[in-house]
Amino acid sequence: MPTNSSSLHLPFGENKNAQWYGKDILSVKQFSRADLEYIFGVAHEMRGMVERVGTFDLLKGKILANLFYEPSTRTSSSFTAAMERLGGSVIPISEVKYSSVTKGESLSDTIRTLECYADVIVLRHPETGSAEIAAKAAKKPILNAGDGVGEHPTQALLDAFTIKAELGKLDNLTVTMLGDLKYGRTVHSLARLLSNFTNIKLNYVSPDILKMPKEVLDEVAEKKVPQAEYSSLEKILPETDVLYVTRVQKERFEDPADYEKVKGAYVIDPEIMKPAKKEMIVMHPLPRVGEISTDFDDDPRAAYFRQMEYGLYVRMALLAMVLGKA
Ligand code: CP
Repeated sequence: MPTNSSSLHLPFGENKNAQWYGKDILSVKQFSRADLEYIFGVAHEMRGMVERVGTFDLLKGKILANLFYEPSTRTSSSFTAAMERLGGSVIPISEVKYSSVTKGESLSDTIRTLECYADVIVLRHPETGSAEIAAKAAKKPILNAGDGVGEHPTQALLDAFTIKAELGKLDNLTVTMLGDLKYGRTVHSLARLLSNFTNIKLNYVSPDILKMPKEVLDEVAEKKVPQAEYSSLEKILPETDVLYVTRVQKERFEDPADYEKVKGAYVIDPEIMKPAKKEMIVMHPLPRVGEISTDFDDDPRAAYFRQMEYGLYVRMALLAMVLGKA
């Protein structure tokens, strides 16, 4: 069990004065650098606890409603695992077609319903801004698990935690984001989040029709972070510390012909990676559909499977924080 100096408050009673008690997690824009360091500290403690004891009763008696209007493997199951490793339980609603949503119930009413039964709600929804709508309807904390092409803040937190765990720092890094930067909500959140750190350089590599949205570029530019756009990886791979690869998001294209034009635009494989540094990592929020060859999986720089595990610790930290236990 943690000592008194730990940020985990055991055994019972929530700290309603804690900074994060009852808060929503909607966007990475809400985090300062100090907030991020605090979250990573709690996640680090969670990792230690999972390694030592596996499951413990920090959130015993608490209930999470996991409400997913879009498919998910990692986010949904890692939030479930996080709650259960903390001794709590989960109401899983992954198939909204079997819920009253099919009868026409609004998002706000669905949220008001679930908060009668749960202490915290994780929401994935296809519309940008849906998490904010849910948060307006709810008195209990809403955790945004992806709102359309908007944001995926808990993914960006786990991505940054991965970088810190793997490379030992979040300052002085060149991060290259590759693939579908238009529709990929994870890169929107990650670019914003990394702009909190010092001497970060962001490179964006994408087909012309999948460039990073101007809104994100402008926000990052306000933080004086150097950014550059490319159509090819070749020139900037040797300087890259983190190569963040994304899937082309077929489901978001209005015209399937456009998808056909850009699918398979980039494939990372051992040959392509030859000019890259030895001390760098390749990340991917997953799922992948061919943009990283399985031939690369055994390379020590392939961090994407470890990245999923880091997500468990970050999500445990967030649940404990918003429920007044960290
Ligand atoms: N990275 C991510 O959000 O994966 P899922 O869609 O499987 O949750």
